[in-house]
Amino acid sequence: MTETIKPHGGKLVNRELTGAQAEEARGKAKSLKRINLASYEISDLEMIATGALSPLEGFMGLADFKSVLEKMHLAKGLAWSLPVVKSITEEEKKSIKVGDEIALCDPASGHALALMKIEEIFPHDKAAHATQAYRTEEKAHPGVARIYGMGDTLIAGKISLFERPKCAKFLEYRRDPAETRKIFSEKNWRRVVAFQTRNPIHRAHEYLLKCALEMADGLMVHPLIGDTKGDDIPSEIRMKCYQVLLDKYFSKNNTLLSVFPAAMRYAGPREAIFHALVRKNYGCTHFIVGRDHAGVAKPDGKPYYGSFDAHHIFNEFSAEEIGITPLFFDFTFYCKTCEEMASTKTCPHDPSHHLSLSGSKVREMLRKGEMPPPEFSRPEVAQVLIEAMREKATA
Ligand code: ADX
Repeated sequence: MTETIKPHGGKLVNRELTGAQAEEARGKAKSLKRINLASYEISDLEMIATGALSPLEGFMGLADFKSVLEKMHLAKGLAWSLPVVKSITEEEKKSIKVGDEIALCDPASGHALALMKIEEIFPHDKAAHATQAYRTEEKAHPGVARIYGMGDTLIAGKISLFERPKCAKFLEYRRDPAETRKIFSEKNWRRVVAFQTRNPIHRAHEYLLKCALEMADGLMVHPLIGDTKGDDIPSEIRMKCYQVLLDKYFSKNNTLLSVFPAAMRYAGPREAIFHALVRKNYGCTHFIVGRDHAGVAKPDGKPYYGSFDAHHIFNEFSAEEIGITPLFFDFTFYCKTCEEMASTKTCPHDPSHHLSLSGSKVREMLRKGEMPPPEFSRPEVAQVLIEAMREKATA
């Protein structure tokens, strides 16, 4: 058994009650004030409970919220780049006070999921949240739109989860940090590289994965399955793409597909830090950061963040405080003259030699049932996407 990398802050948080304690909490919750969670808050709740967000043991208080926004560190000094907060409505605010214990509930199932002891109630400074975390206040930005859709008040406190969110999706791929750590240790993977993705997997992604795997013992493909913006491809379809690709083109001996329950924030560089720290908690030692990581485009098609801002932001921290090693990749593509996948780092030819297809062009081809070139997408992956588009059109 190999020892795995230390979680962020040194200890893997476990805020999940089991057995008799869970039953007791479930009983207690029946008599408590119920506060509903948004689906992205349910993702955070689950990740706090399982230690994916270690060292967080609950939703953040004001000191952490401000310190994270202003200094990209928690109030006690640990590196952390994005707020993890729980908002409430003005109506809910009237019925709770500091010191109360409440039941956090999933409005979809009506089930109470966790207990929370309220330690703080404070105003949600949305302008600061947006401008500091997202570098913009534009509501066209999906992360900023979410913030402005949240309540004006935040509540903080440790949580105790007694029921997992009802989620029938991808059960065989749902693994908590303790489980992935155990797998890496049993497989004797010392260098484990994690890959964050929210898109169908194409050849440029595959190239990043294979380059990274050349220097690692194992690879964890870790697609995000929480909330994404409306025009992103749903996780059900993406999972089929990852499965067909990994089945045929990757070795089972060194590759693990696991889902990441987080919601997408689209915070670009700050989210790259967040994604890296969280993957450290899952036991990974290396993390892929390519072009425009966690980025999003404005309505005019221009990106909100510079293509490599997500690389540069790592310079604002020491390697020790991040702990997990980022693997930076330049823009990758198929080069017709090199006759292989390459990047701006390895290919000497100008862009006219590169296979370049816009997202809208690819979508148009898939809608018509046409295969994009195999140098852009594996045919097995394109087939999944074509079928999904056909089903959507006839639904
Ligand atoms: S993300 O929002 O999860 O970053 P996506 O799934 O498209 O979106 O990207 C996953 C990872 O692959 C990110 O690190 C991203 O920077 C990287 N990536 C995607 N396409 C390319 C490309 N053509 N060249 C280099 N890196 C890329």
